[in-house]
Amino acid sequence: MLSASRLIALIWFLGFANYVASACLPAQELEALLAVALTLGKMDWNLDGVVDPCTNEVPWWDSSVEDGKGVNCTFTNETTCHVTQIILKTDNLSGSLPKELAGLPFLEVIDLARNYLSGTLPPEWGSMKSLRKISLLGNRLTGPIPREYGNITALDDLTLEANQFTGNIPGEIGDLPRITRLLLNSNNFTGELSPNLAKLTTLDNFRISDNNFTGSIPNYIQNWIDIKRMEIQASGLSGPIPSNLTSLTKLTDLRISDLNGDQSDFPNLAISTSWEQVILRSCNIVGEIPPFIAQLTIEKSLDLSFNKLTGQIPGDLGRQKVGDIYLTGNFLNGTVPPSMKDKGNIDLSYNNFTLVGSEPRCATNSPNLFANSNGNTSGTHYCINPRCMPNDFYSFYINCGSQEKVGKYEVDYSTGNFYQGKNWGFFSTGKFWNPETYGNSLVFASGGSSISGPDSKLYSAARLSPLSLTYYGFCLRNGNYKVNLHFAEIMFTNDTTYRSLGRRVFDIYIQGKLVEENFNIENEAPGVYNPITSSHDAIVGDHTLEIRFYWAGKGTTALPERSVYGPLISAISVVHATYKPGSGISTGARVGIAIAAIVALVLLVGILRLKGCLGGKHSMYHDLKGLDLRTGSFTLRQIRAATNNFDPANKIGEGGFGPVYKGVLLDKTIIAVKQLSSKSKQGNREFVNEIGMISALQHPHLVKLYGCCIEGNQLLLVYEYLENNSLARALFGPEEHQLHLDWPMRQNICIGIARGLAYLHEESRLKIVHRDIKATNVLLDKNLVPKISDFGLAKLDEEDNTHISTRIAGTFGYMAPEYAMRGYLTDKADVYSFGVVVLEIVSGRSNSSIKPKEDSFYLLDWANSLKARGNLLELVDRRLESSFNKEEITRAINVALICTNVVAAERPSMSTVVSILEGKDGVPKFVSNSSISVGKTRPDEVEMGAFDSEGVSMDAPWSGSSTSAPDLYPVAIDTNYWEKRGF
Ligand SMILES: *[C@@H]1O[C@H](CO)[C@@H](O)[C@H](O)[C@H]1NC(C)=O
Ligand SMILES: *[C@@H]1O[C@H](CO)[C@@H](O)[C@H](O)[C@H]1NC(C)=O
Repeated sequence: MLSASRLIALIWFLGFANYVASACLPAQELEALLAVALTLGKMDWNLDGVVDPCTNEVPWWDSSVEDGKGVNCTFTNETTCHVTQIILKTDNLSGSLPKELAGLPFLEVIDLARNYLSGTLPPEWGSMKSLRKISLLGNRLTGPIPREYGNITALDDLTLEANQFTGNIPGEIGDLPRITRLLLNSNNFTGELSPNLAKLTTLDNFRISDNNFTGSIPNYIQNWIDIKRMEIQASGLSGPIPSNLTSLTKLTDLRISDLNGDQSDFPNLAISTSWEQVILRSCNIVGEIPPFIAQLTIEKSLDLSFNKLTGQIPGDLGRQKVGDIYLTGNFLNGTVPPSMKDKGNIDLSYNNFTLVGSEPRCATNSPNLFANSNGNTSGTHYCINPRCMPNDFYSFYINCGSQEKVGKYEVDYSTGNFYQGKNWGFFSTGKFWNPETYGNSLVFASGGSSISGPDSKLYSAARLSPLSLTYYGFCLRNGNYKVNLHFAEIMFTNDTTYRSLGRRVFDIYIQGKLVEENFNIENEAPGVYNPITSSHDAIVGDHTLEIRFYWAGKGTTALPERSVYGPLISAISVVHATYKPGSGISTGARVGIAIAAIVALVLLVGILRLKGCLGGKHSMYHDLKGLDLRTGSFTLRQIRAATNNFDPANKIGEGGFGPVYKGVLLDKTIIAVKQLSSKSKQGNREFVNEIGMISALQHPHLVKLYGCCIEGNQLLLVYEYLENNSLARALFGPEEHQLHLDWPMRQNICIGIARGLAYLHEESRLKIVHRDIKATNVLLDKNLVPKISDFGLAKLDEEDNTHISTRIAGTFGYMAPEYAMRGYLTDKADVYSFGVVVLEIVSGRSNSSIKPKEDSFYLLDWANSLKARGNLLELVDRRLESSFNKEEITRAINVALICTNVVAAERPSMSTVVSILEGKDGVPKFVSNSSISVGKTRPDEVEMGAFDSEGVSMDAPWSGSSTSAPDLYPVAIDTNYWEKRGF
């Protein structure tokens, strides 16, 4: 039986037979070419023999590919041509290296970079006298370099990068008289470098990174006087770096890193003043940075990171042109020289620089001073300023490099080199030196759904680092932790192409301890697109956990393209090994036990604390001490953290007393923080009492008060945050903030407010008159459910708790006449205000749009006059067009009018209002008191009354959700009053 390859071979021979007679190519070269193609697995060359290889045309030679591809034949005289070049890059050939190549005596170039070739180097190639270039970069080749290759006297370029070659570099290689390029990096070469290599004086480019050589860097490299670029990164060789490199005057690109063994002094690089790149990273270099460094021009970068450099930076470093400067991870101190300020990409992280205060903030700026400890008194790392408290957390979950939240795994998509979230952050340093396809991106998404399974979204994107990537967790409860690191290799493929041949290798440190050396995801998983979890135990003793991924120069850097290397992490989960919230005696229970022994007043405060403080994760930070009445249930620090230190950007409104801020607590609860007063309050204890009582009032139509904070002169109230701001803004705020509210929504809002008021007046344990119902005090949640804000806050400095208030609080236009003019307060005052609000809801107009003089408009007057004219529906908001239920809307207007009756006793109770609005009760007959109403609430008359000007809110209605000063005015809980009401 004929095997496929034999069959193809047969066809080849038949095809060649056609033009052997007329060919210019010598017959034995044709035969050799055939054998070469077969062995390589190159099956798509000309099979019928129509095209002569000597024509250098397709399919033999394809000049449309950059630099040409295929077989290049060159005529040596008029009748004969010879194969001079075989260039088959990125062809995914899966054969092996053909010994028959030696049958092409004129061959100068064999370039098989980025294929899928296996097998060993044929010793036969050693006889090829014309061969100048051998490139086999990025294949699966194994075995040693044959000694015979020392005979390829024309050889100029031997590129074996990114294969799996083994063994010593034969000393014979040192005999190559013309070699300039020797690229042996990313293989498994071993042994010491042969002394015979000292003869390689023609070398200009020497790379042996990522191998397993032994011994130290030979001193004879000083003989290589033509060398321009030298790469010895993670080669296995140890230090020290030969100190005398002064003969290497052409050297412009020196990359030595990850040296084992002895420490080195700083090598003398003053041999040349103009450099392309200097990398002396992790070389165990001691001492100070020599001053000559400052005299060098370095085009791309100077990387001296992760050494043991001490002292100060030479004062004028940065004056000459230097691309990027990496001094990260040394023991440098002093201040940052002014010459380095405002230069691009200077990384001084992890040193001991003294921060003099003018440094830029954190890692996103240059010079990057991340984790310099001297200038930072509050923590170990400059730039890490957690907005949380120790013990606030016992876990964190990160979906590294991903825009997608998956379960508990948080988004981690910052493309910068620094990010700080709530209780975790990362810092990345380094740069991909030859960015090709993937550029300098620090995140990578596979794009496809090559990973299956429930957690595939954790693995479809990942974070990359060119050098060092550290994730921090902070505010953690101390103890033992389980750290799970989730990996999946997604940048290589799992097919039979060169794209599958990359090797990613990096180290992992947890809490500074090396836990995985030479970690290779693909080996562990095994395979690509296959998730693997690396689990570790860690001890957290100072509330901080540090997980560091470090590229120590190992692995390929050119597959599938240059710049694919370094750590890749898909997801991280960190969780306390034993602690579970609620385990043991919960804080709540402990508080409960304590409360049982304390008087009733304290009980109320306890309720507050349970709600505002002890109920959530914050509880972990507090203990029973927190019951001290003098401390707030929220600490100022918590509130600062939540509001980003009262960042003006978080301000959502401004009231008479002060601003209101939006904030986010650690458990993601969004809050509104009302800054009450910066005056010192004597009655803090009472204040806390009242807050405790008020916060005990819970109803679907009341804004939740989570608690308060009294610290220093700060008095802060913490409320639930409502997404849709106030009813006023929705109805008559600036156009971009208005909401489209159809009639059913509006009716629901009316009913909701009514229910909330009915609860305050009639159902709650404490009976409370709001005193300042108005459209700005009705907030709307995300479902447009109305919630009344600012109910029941006792005026803190008001001592005489009579129901006749000495100070009137309310908002003009909403105030019941008896209250506005005589200060007489009952819950019917709220009913009046409610009526006005209903009119606003129906009409979509603010009750008073105060314009100069006669243009003034009073909604209530207008409604009463329309009622008198029997033309009520004219009141209805034009925006509702005609799509409303006439019966319902008429009912609502009538309710509004009876609520705004000038005679308080005529106004219905709020529970009655609810029944009417819900259509359960009819609207009672009522006598219009429009004559009294009209004109009696005009501002000029009201101003004659007992107001202090502070009490009148003329705020633009949309100015805040619930922020006007008078909103906070209290109801005086007076026993007479309650008795009179029959409670
Ligand atoms: C073919 O090879 C010869 C000899 O190496 C060279 O001079 C010529 O430029 C090559 N032709 C092409 C198209 O690359
Ligand atoms: C052309 O060169 C080949 C060897 O390369 C030789 O065998 C042949 O005789 C030469 N032909 C002529 C006409 O010189």
